[in-house]
Amino acid sequence: MPDVAILGATGYTGAELLRILSQHRHVRVVYAGSRQYSGMRVEEVFPFLRGAYSGLVFGDDEPSDIDAELFFCALPHGVSMEVVSLLVKRGRRVIDLSADFRLKDPAVYEKWYREHTAPELLDSAVYGLPEFYREDIKDARLVANPGCYPTGALLPLLPLLKEGLLEPEGIIIDAKSGVSGAGRKATLETQFVELAEGFHPYRVLGHRHTPEIEQVLGELCGGKFRVAFVPHLLPVARGILTTIYAPLKEGVSPESFQRVYREYYQNEPFVRVLEGGRLPDIKHVRGSNFCDVGIRVDQDRGLAVIVSAIDNLVKGASGQAVQNMNIMYRLPETEALDSPPLGV
Ligand SMILES: NC(=O)c1ccc[n+]([C@@H]2O[C@H](COP(=O)([O-])OP(=O)(O)OC[C@H]3O[C@@H](n4cnc5c(N)ncnc54)[C@H](OP(=O)(O)O)[C@@H]3O)[C@@H](O)[C@H]2O)c1
Repeated sequence: MPDVAILGATGYTGAELLRILSQHRHVRVVYAGSRQYSGMRVEEVFPFLRGAYSGLVFGDDEPSDIDAELFFCALPHGVSMEVVSLLVKRGRRVIDLSADFRLKDPAVYEKWYREHTAPELLDSAVYGLPEFYREDIKDARLVANPGCYPTGALLPLLPLLKEGLLEPEGIIIDAKSGVSGAGRKATLETQFVELAEGFHPYRVLGHRHTPEIEQVLGELCGGKFRVAFVPHLLPVARGILTTIYAPLKEGVSPESFQRVYREYYQNEPFVRVLEGGRLPDIKHVRGSNFCDVGIRVDQDRGLAVIVSAIDNLVKGASGQAVQNMNIMYRLPETEALDSPPLGV
């Protein structure tokens, strides 16, 4: 039964970790970190967790003083790399939810984020997408939990590209995210009045998740990938709907798509492939670790339209992190993750 610590426990992903882990039968949350709420009880800050963590108080201790076996780092990028580096050097296992250890090339990280201060850890960090890296995750000391948009794009794309059903060039990823994706701290852009009744793209062709998606596609499918990625901000709290437009390889039949998805995902507990042309809805995965995938194929136009839906805070962050922990500790992979989506 590993004792776990959550750093950045008062952010949206930290709170979601607390929520999910309150249901876990084999781990104990022994530490929840926060600077702003240090000294306050978990249920004072998050009344929805009333009764779940009696006695647990947010702390602002030096990470090296915290006694836990596994650390979830739900800190902003840049902050995380310093903390993670220290923890790994002290022999702790870490699941990092930030972007700091996802990109393998420090020069690429520097181009999209900032200078990397722990590049020596990049090689050994395992990309925490269980459906494709499960074996490596088992013994990883450091898991780089995937970004929310990359999760929503990679799960539908990878089987089709690996099996050569799609052309590798000309892929367009058009994604819409709920506002919790931007984190909990107050900003003008994420205020209710600024967002409600509106809908807009942002960081068009310049979002930091682009190199992450391209890196994983290249690593698992071979070759160099370039995708057009356009995120949008949806005025809802949670959820990412991703619509992918991809050119078909010549001669590929519509039936082969369902066959390939079945081969890859029929035994995966958290990927639900919709049959009969049905398409996903973020409402149908809300509060769950599912990624729903649907597809339409137009042979006349040589085009596949693939749609996925995830909850950005669950399969896009904290749920996937708990799934990774379950794999690392040989626990049932669905432990604490098997409640059905909220539906409404
Ligand atoms: N939101 C999502 O959907 C999502 C999805 C996938 C990955 N992620 C990644 O997960 C990480 C956390 O995201 P989030 O949305 O939960 O962020 P958030 O809501 O902004 O929360 C950040 C947390 O980190 C703490 N923190 C902030 N600055 C800190 C500093 N300088 N030193 C120590 N602690 C600090 C905050 O608490 P105090 O200020 O009280 O210390 C808070 O608990 C980010 O790296 C994000 O990119 C987020």
